[in-house]
Amino acid sequence: MKRVLVTGACGQIGSELVIRLGKLLGNGNVLATDIKRAPDILKKHGNFTYLNVLDSHMFAKEVVDFEADAIFHMAAILSASGEKDPQLAYQVNMTGLMNALEVSRRKGVQMLITPSSIAVYGPDAPKLQTVEDAPLNPTTMYGVTKVAGEKLLQYYHIKYGLDTRSLRYPGIISAETPPGGGTTDFAVDLYWHALRGKPYSCFVKEDAALPFMYMPDAIKAIIDLAKAPAERLHRRVYNVHAMSLTAGDIVASIRNHIPDFRVEYRPDYRQEIADSWPASLNDAPAREDWRWRPDFGLEAMTRDMLDRIKRKLSD
Ligand code: SER
Repeated sequence: MKRVLVTGACGQIGSELVIRLGKLLGNGNVLATDIKRAPDILKKHGNFTYLNVLDSHMFAKEVVDFEADAIFHMAAILSASGEKDPQLAYQVNMTGLMNALEVSRRKGVQMLITPSSIAVYGPDAPKLQTVEDAPLNPTTMYGVTKVAGEKLLQYYHIKYGLDTRSLRYPGIISAETPPGGGTTDFAVDLYWHALRGKPYSCFVKEDAALPFMYMPDAIKAIIDLAKAPAERLHRRVYNVHAMSLTAGDIVASIRNHIPDFRVEYRPDYRQEIADSWPASLNDAPAREDWRWRPDFGLEAMTRDMLDRIKRKLSD
């Protein structure tokens, strides 16, 4: 991995991933792409170009011109937005991935890495310590595209020898770029409302547990998986887990710092999505194969989130 192209670089994960990859490989070796305008965090980053992942010709041209040997394909529509427009979610998530796979195969890209999600599971999967090979019967279009995407990665690996890699992320909590259209977005909203001194109306129940991870761990996970020697990997897709949290857990942790933070719970259609997902994942294969370990628990994450958001609000 020497020259990488990142799709969805303006997104919650993409924007921080580009910065980290720039530090690792040199900014000149990272091409950030998206259909959106670059957020503040990316403004100073050298290489940014418009790329619509649905346009296979544009995709191939950027890969060839940049001489990319790896693609981090981060562009996707998340679960809640996907339920508002399932056909668009299908198009962006499936055609976008198919274009990424085809451009990799045809233009000699060595590695394609792309996130999967806890959304691959449905109501029939065990709720706790869910393993990779548990039943995959998602009830969202987002989940359906992630299951199909995982299978496509496996297919391209078997059929064409492409080095495809993926990890099932839990909900990601971060302070830099807001998430958009996910079911787990409430976790990020809680911190911003608390620091702005505003009450929050939470769209999931107080006691519904979901798997979460703090952004520095999410970035570490995808980079460590990308850097892992191919011979150590026994699968294409790995679960990664950090902490199982309810909205109530996050609120309690925020109230240790901001005691008068007020929250009311008004579950909407996103509660049903949350109910269909596990509360915790078993990530033993990632721990074994590429020594995955999260650094952040709830308290350390809350302290860091509050510090970062405070700095952003005073800028
Ligand atoms: N955070 C994502 C979502 O809520 C799950 O992958 O859609």
